[in-house]
Formats: sequence, structure tokens, C-alpha cells
Amino acid sequence: MKSPAYKVVVTLASLIFGFAIIGAAVYWQLEYGERSGGDPGAVSGDRAFTTEELAEHDGVSGNDCYVAVDGDVYLIEGFALWQMGQHLPSNGRASCGYDLTDVIDESPHGRSKLQLLQKVGTLT
Ligand code: HEM
Repeated sequence: MKSPAYKVVVTLASLIFGFAIIGAAVYWQLEYGERSGGDPGAVSGDRAFTTEELAEHDGVSGNDCYVAVDGDVYLIEGFALWQMGQHLPSNGRASCGYDLTDVIDESPHGRSKLQLLQKVGTLT
């Protein structure tokens, strides 16, 4: 038989240990959570891209498809006419990872499709 005092001490120690674990987890998440994993700023809409960083988003090998128009960078996702980093009706003129400001002016739809796209940042 354990004494009541022993039970109180064990309960308190368990509580303190438990809160310490939770506190450490919360601290870890706040301190390091934002920086871990994936593409930082991918959905924030305000990331600055160099031409080289834009080119990494070529829509193949699991990369997202990003394109730039007029200095804004857009995510292209979920469109049947964009496959494997290529815009099928464009005959190779519109590909992911490039500044397509001049190309979009040659398209039948012009800038009207931009409103369907999520802006992820700007091209520096
Ligand atoms: C020479 C270049 C291009 C050609 C010939 C072209 C042609 C087309 C055609 C024929 C369509 C289907 C008809 C329509 O929805 O209006 C289409 C759809 C679309 N285009 Fe283009 N386009 C070009 C460039 C671009 C560029 C540069 C962008 C983005 C920056 C773009 C984004 C889209 C989107 C988002 C759709 C809708 C796709 C879908 O619903 O599956 N296009 N394009």
C-alpha cells in the first residue's frame, strides 16, 4: 500500500512533467515550426522570386508550376490544359518557370485567365 502523501507527490510530479513536455512542444513549434518543411512562403502571396527561383518551379518532377506576368508570380494548378509543365494549346510557347508577359499577349484569352490564378509573389 502506498501512502496518500506518496500519491500526491507522484500526481504532482506527473503534472509538472506533463506541462514541461507540452511547454517544450509549444516552444519548439513557435521557434522552429514556420521554418520547417516545404517551400517557405509558397502560399503567402508576397514572396520575392529571382528568375532562377522562378525557373525551379517548372511543373515537372513534383515541382509546382509558377509563371510570371507583369512582375507578378502565379501558381498554376488544377487546369486540364496545363500538363507536365506545358500549356497544351500554346505549342511550347507557354511553359512553367518562365516570365510569360510577352507570350500571354499572343494568346486568344489575353490577361483574362490571370484572375483564375493564385498570386504567390513578385519577380525581382
Ligand atoms: C501563346 C500562348 C497561349 C495560347 C495560344 C493559349 C491558349 C489557350 C487556349 C486555347 C485556352 C482554352 C480556351 C480558353 O479557356 O480561353 C487556354 C486556357 C487557359 N490559359 Fe492559355 N494560352 C497561352 C498562354 C497562356 C499563359 C501565358 C497563361 C498564364 C499565365 C495561360 C493561362 C491559361 C489558363 C489558366 C487557361 C484555362 C485552362 C483550363 O481551363 O484548363 N495561357 N489558353
